[in-house]
Amino acid sequence: MRVAMIGTGYVGLVSGACFADFGHHVTCVDKDADKIAALKRGEMPIFEPGLDDLVAANANAERLAFTTELGPAVAAADAVFIAVGTPSRRGDGHADLSYVYAAAREIADALDGFTVVITKSTVPIGTGDEVERIIREARPDADVAVASNPEFLREGAAIQDFKHPDRIVVGTDDPRARAVAAELYRPLYLNQAPILNVSRRTAELIKYAANAFLATKITFINEIADLCEQVGADVQDVARGIGLDNRIGSKFLHAGPGYGGSCFPKDTVALIKTAQDHATPLRIVETVAAVNDARKRAMARKVAAAVGTSLRGKTVGVLGLTFKPNTDDMREAPSIPLITALQDMGARVRAYDPVGMEQAGKVLPDVVFCAGPYECAAGADALVIVTEWEQFRALDLDRIKAAMARPVVVDLRNIYRPDDMARRGFVYESVGRPKRG
Ligand SMILES: NC(=O)c1ccc[n+]([C@@H]2O[C@H](COP(=O)([O-])OP(=O)(O)OC[C@H]3O[C@@H](n4cnc5c(N)ncnc54)[C@H](O)[C@@H]3O)[C@@H](O)[C@H]2O)c1
Repeated sequence: MRVAMIGTGYVGLVSGACFADFGHHVTCVDKDADKIAALKRGEMPIFEPGLDDLVAANANAERLAFTTELGPAVAAADAVFIAVGTPSRRGDGHADLSYVYAAAREIADALDGFTVVITKSTVPIGTGDEVERIIREARPDADVAVASNPEFLREGAAIQDFKHPDRIVVGTDDPRARAVAAELYRPLYLNQAPILNVSRRTAELIKYAANAFLATKITFINEIADLCEQVGADVQDVARGIGLDNRIGSKFLHAGPGYGGSCFPKDTVALIKTAQDHATPLRIVETVAAVNDARKRAMARKVAAAVGTSLRGKTVGVLGLTFKPNTDDMREAPSIPLITALQDMGARVRAYDPVGMEQAGKVLPDVVFCAGPYECAAGADALVIVTEWEQFRALDLDRIKAAMARPVVVDLRNIYRPDDMARRGFVYESVGRPKRG
């Protein structure tokens, strides 16, 4: 099939490259001329394991092309995906749909022959109806179906997730659109990936409900972690104890500094707004968002408590800045409010991240960026582990201790063992665990 992918960001680029790898002919379109020029040179705009090789292989096989010109790509396509951003709207937290609707208008002008327009961006319930209205108003003659196909990939494991999804959700009542979606994803359901054919509005809600549920699970275990600290229980054992119950499941039960990233924060708030507009407030999700927001700055107080004195004039080293490992994405990373709170308390912050420092520099101007974890620890009164990058799991702790002004480690990802750290002479704080094992 011929595919046009409108928006070559995280989702558009990964999805486009994977569809090309399935054998389809994909043109990835983006307004950002620098991004397209870089992709044509084989340079990736994001850090995602395996993406450069996948893009190169499919570009070489002439199944994957990049352009800033939407018209010809759409005219030639059987399926046009909308994969543009849907950030939080300034002021009220609703999803900003201006990019989606602008793309719909441009697509309408270029449609030629039967085409399925498929929204892959995460969009509120009813957006597909509006996309269809925009297109039909602009082009009453067009032979078009509008479907929803939300994306569930995780950054850092995006290719694996796209190629081995737990499910594929296709939202449309149009049999021709279903047939096109089935053909696009045929290699996957040969691999037994369940395809869920549902209505367009249902598909839109599935995506938000999934993200809100996962955000709730994280926030639940974070609050249980706080209780563990007060009562001398170990949250890791609690998580295992409940996670082994199949009805609960072990994923997303890792206590930490609060969820961040390009999806959960904005999607929970957008869902809350949709629900309020329909006079059915989702009070659980409202609480989750509020609890998570408060948690990020609270982690700075945890650092201050571990140091034991005011942070004014103290140096804090931060290991890990991205919202999770294996990505350079800094959107809504918990490191941002944490570092800001540390600075508000008067601390000087040094930081190291394996790939995120370029992006981090744009949002954290007053941080000293270091060349590695040992340089980051040098002279620090506390070292805070914020992102669980693989390379932080086996640090030379004696070297870290020797480099620091005070041996205080605050491990917000629970990657070290309290008893081991105490034996090595660290003041060690983690999340939801007794100080000594
Ligand atoms: N990032 C994720 O992990 C993830 C996962 C699942 C779903 N989503 C959803 O997918 C959507 C895209 O997210 P993302 O992280 O890929 O966004 P992104 O910001 O990385 O990329 C969006 C791209 O769209 C381009 N664009 C905007 N308007 C355009 C237009 N009219 N024509 C051509 N290009 C245009 C922008 O230049 C940008 O490159 C969002 O709705 C998001 O919620 C994201």
